[in-house]
Amino acid sequence: MAVFSRTISALVLLLVVFSSCEAKEILVGGKADAWKIPSSQSDSLNQWAESTRFRIGDSLVWKYDSGKDSVLQVNKEGYVSCNISNPIEEYKDGNTKVKLSRSGPFYFISGTKGNCEKGQKVVVVVLSPRSRYTGISPAPAPAPVEFEGGPAVAPTSSATKLQSGLLVALGIFVLGLF
Ligand SMILES: *[C@@H]1O[C@H](CO)[C@@H](O)[C@H](O)[C@H]1NC(C)=O
Repeated sequence: MAVFSRTISALVLLLVVFSSCEAKEILVGGKADAWKIPSSQSDSLNQWAESTRFRIGDSLVWKYDSGKDSVLQVNKEGYVSCNISNPIEEYKDGNTKVKLSRSGPFYFISGTKGNCEKGQKVVVVVLSPRSRYTGISPAPAPAPVEFEGGPAVAPTSSATKLQSGLLVALGIFVLGLF
C-alpha cells in the first residue's frame, strides 16, 4: 500500500511539472475590454505585451464587440503604417483566438478605420525556445529582421525534445527516490 501511494505521489509530482509547461491562453491586454483605443500611453497594449511572457504554443485571445471591431494580423509594414487593406489574417467573430505557432514577432491592429492610428495595435514577441534557459529581457527590442520570413519550425521540435528529455530524467530521478 505504501509503495502504491508513493508511486501516486511521484506521478502527481510529474503531472505538476508537466502542467507548468502547458500552453496557455492569454487574454490580450489582460482583461476582457482591452481591445480598444488606449486612453494613454501607459495604458497601451504594447506596455502590457512587454511585461507578458509569450511562448510557442500559447494562444492569444481577444474579446470585443464583433459589430464594432475586428483583429487584423498584419506584417511589420502594415503594423507601422496602420494599413488595414491587406491583412495576413482577419478575425471578426468577437471571440478571437490565435495560436502562437513560432517564435518571433506577431503584429496585430484593429480593423476599424482610424483605430490603429490612435494606438489600438500590439506587437507580441514569442521568445525562441533557447532563450528560456538564459536570462530574458522583459522588453524585447523591435522586431528582428530574421523573423520576417516563413515560420521557424526547427527550433520548436528540438526544444520539445530537450523538454521531454528533461522530464524523463526528472521522472527517473523521482522514481529512484522510492
Ligand atoms: C496598403 O497596402 C496595400 C497592399 O499592400 C497597398 O496597395 C496600399 O498602397 C497600402 N496603403 C497605404 C496607405 O500604404
